[in-house]
Amino acid sequence: MTSLEEIGEPRPHLRGTPLYDWDYLVQEDRAHRLIYTDPAIFEAEMTRIFGGTWTYLAHESEIPNVNDFITRRLGLRPLIIVRDAEGKIRALYNRCTHRGTTLCRFDKGNSKSFQCPYHGWNFLNTGRLRGVPWPDGYAGDMRDPKYNLAQVPRVESYRGLIFGTLSLDSLPLIEHLGPIATVIDEWLDRNPGSKVVVCEANRFRFKANWKLAYDNSCDGYHVAYSHRSLLETENRFAGENAKGMAYYRNSPDTQPMYMRYTGHGNHYKDKRPNLEKRPGGLWALESAHPGMEHYEADFISRYGDRAFSLLDLAGSEPVNINVFPNLSLLGNHIQVFEPVSVEETNAIWYGTMIVDDGSIGADGVRDINALRMRTQEGFPNFGEVDDIANFEQIQRGLLAVEDEWVYMHRGLGIPNRVKTNADGTITAPATDEAFMREHFKEWKRLMQTRPNLAIRREP
Ligand code: FES
Ligand SMILES: [Fe+2]
Repeated sequence: MTSLEEIGEPRPHLRGTPLYDWDYLVQEDRAHRLIYTDPAIFEAEMTRIFGGTWTYLAHESEIPNVNDFITRRLGLRPLIIVRDAEGKIRALYNRCTHRGTTLCRFDKGNSKSFQCPYHGWNFLNTGRLRGVPWPDGYAGDMRDPKYNLAQVPRVESYRGLIFGTLSLDSLPLIEHLGPIATVIDEWLDRNPGSKVVVCEANRFRFKANWKLAYDNSCDGYHVAYSHRSLLETENRFAGENAKGMAYYRNSPDTQPMYMRYTGHGNHYKDKRPNLEKRPGGLWALESAHPGMEHYEADFISRYGDRAFSLLDLAGSEPVNINVFPNLSLLGNHIQVFEPVSVEETNAIWYGTMIVDDGSIGADGVRDINALRMRTQEGFPNFGEVDDIANFEQIQRGLLAVEDEWVYMHRGLGIPNRVKTNADGTITAPATDEAFMREHFKEWKRLMQTRPNLAIRREP
């Protein structure tokens, strides 16, 4: 018996003939307002994008032990991400197979099994139905696999980042990530033990389409304007414009920072070349916050010459790594976009901590993580709010039905400005919208392709 069940799409009239002319809605230099406002397009995205390609689900450090679980979503599907008794990571549908209620109502925990709150059906954390109350009331065989929980058929990790897809045609995760994996490596390898663990999160919900957040993820054009008050706050005590994102203030395209598109909707903005390459170069960008000078003095007295390279571990890594459709590694955060409806989205900023690999000592790791929490509070509270205000105002602007287009042509048509590299990646100045034009090609490809999707159940 096959354990894979092919699934159809919820809107059968999408089959065969396209519901929309995607080539009209997304053109090289512009996108139509409908892709942000139309509930039918959103519904199609929930299978063709969220499900049709690799989507970030969770981090392995959130379920470190066997039988640990957390509840998450893949598009609108509620999931339980679990490490089963054999250590295998699974993404179970958090939906009882009896009458469909949410099976697990906790955010996280440790359990070998899940008991449905409605009528008490009990499932092992492998997804298999373990038992039902008063089974003599059923004439048929309750061991039929159709009663086992649905699961995401393909779940793979890259260096602790767990992704899932329902698509049987998606490339293996590592091939899908391609060159963006190298930048993820660099993001991790600067930390002791070459890893981070996830801690708690800043959580936002905004009234706008999820793609507006992804369109912003590599946008270097808005910073000096949208985040003006943040830039001013960061530099209030600095005496010069040297803190935070101050390199965006004047002619940002003449700075050594750049954006690169790496394929499959993924891109990154690399601001690291703007930094002074010395221990403490990153720490020097951090704006003033209470207590930091005491930590700094303490580190210098305890670690001497090593102090500044340790303090750099508390500084926000100046790179935005965006993995389509829902993940951004931004500073030291793991940021996740969760669509709620066509005009509502969650943006969750998971903080990360470093671990003790023996090179620093437990006290030093604790102090770096304490500082790291302070530096990670900055952007979500003082920067993300600026971006969210813009997303909500765009959603409002897009209600003007006759004015149909949004433009993304900055950098397009200027000779030698946008460069295609030998490996196929595309590089452009930091303020260009090349990243957006390219991720919309991937969006359109996925929307135009009839996906080959399946769910799986334990046999
Ligand atoms: S809905 Fe779960 S046991 Fe009835
Ligand atoms: Fe921003």
